[in-house]
Amino acid sequence: MSEEQADTVIYTVEDGIAWVWFSRPAKRNAMSPKLNRRMMEVLDEIEYREDVGVLVLGGQGTAWSAGMDLKEYFRETEANGLRGVRKSQSESYGWFRRLRWFQKPTIAMVNGWCFGGGFGPLFACDLAICSQEAKFGLSEINWGILPGGGVTKVVVDLLSMRDAMWLTLTGDLIDGAQASAMRLVNECVPADQLESRTAEVARMLLQKNPVTLKFAKDAVRRVGLMTYDEAEDYLVRLQEAMNFHDKTEGRKEGIRQFIDEKSYKPGLGAYDK
Ligand code: ACO
Repeated sequence: MSEEQADTVIYTVEDGIAWVWFSRPAKRNAMSPKLNRRMMEVLDEIEYREDVGVLVLGGQGTAWSAGMDLKEYFRETEANGLRGVRKSQSESYGWFRRLRWFQKPTIAMVNGWCFGGGFGPLFACDLAICSQEAKFGLSEINWGILPGGGVTKVVVDLLSMRDAMWLTLTGDLIDGAQASAMRLVNECVPADQLESRTAEVARMLLQKNPVTLKFAKDAVRRVGLMTYDEAEDYLVRLQEAMNFHDKTEGRKEGIRQFIDEKSYKPGLGAYDK
């Protein structure tokens, strides 16, 4: 591993799943400019690999991510003036955006601390599963900034106004069960089941038509900003675009296996790809 890659991100690909890890445990996986640059490279390396169907983002050590690195991301880039600040912002926002619109479905597997800027990749992942040990907080208020870099938008989109306001103004920590009750994550499981449950969800996604997964996840993110009529029109056109892109003609095959072959029931599981 080169010096540029040390203390940043590691990943493996196994059975269709890319396991990507924040790998800076001594600094609680705080996102440094170096980590942000490497994460973009990693996403670039795996996004279109044919042997990757799902991406899981986990954290090594006791943290998922302690947010932006207060020393390297804030203090040191500010020392380089506006140019330094904008550069480091675009590097972090860049990979969050890349992950939001990633070609494959993505799962945040939150093992421990998740602070502030960590809500960016948390939101970028399509699904989120956390451990009972996980702790989430908007600590920005504790050191005198507002939840920037999209984080206020993330909590307003994901949570009720009261919960978003509570986290923002108090900096209070919530645990995994509370995060699940607030719907910040899909599920909370005991720590020793976090990886196995995440792998199980990933394998379930691997059964589905991969072209449909990409179009469907984009649809969920985009229609929230549309009126009903805009969404209806967009979804008609999206489905037509999807039919064009799906060279396997999956929907016809799905209908055939149900109606003609009677080999599966769409209400109970996916057709055989
Ligand atoms: N930025 C820079 N360094 C960090 C960060 C961070 N966000 N989080 C942890 N570290 C470093 C510590 O400075 C320490 O470094 P050192 O070993 O060189 O002294 C090391 O990681 C370990 O941290 P500890 O505080 O000793 O670990 P502990 O397990 O006791 O506490 C905790 C973990 C609660 C995560 C604590 O480190 C913390 O409060 N971190 C800051 C969390 C935060 O507010 N993040 C910013 C959110 S706002 C934003 O992202 C825009």
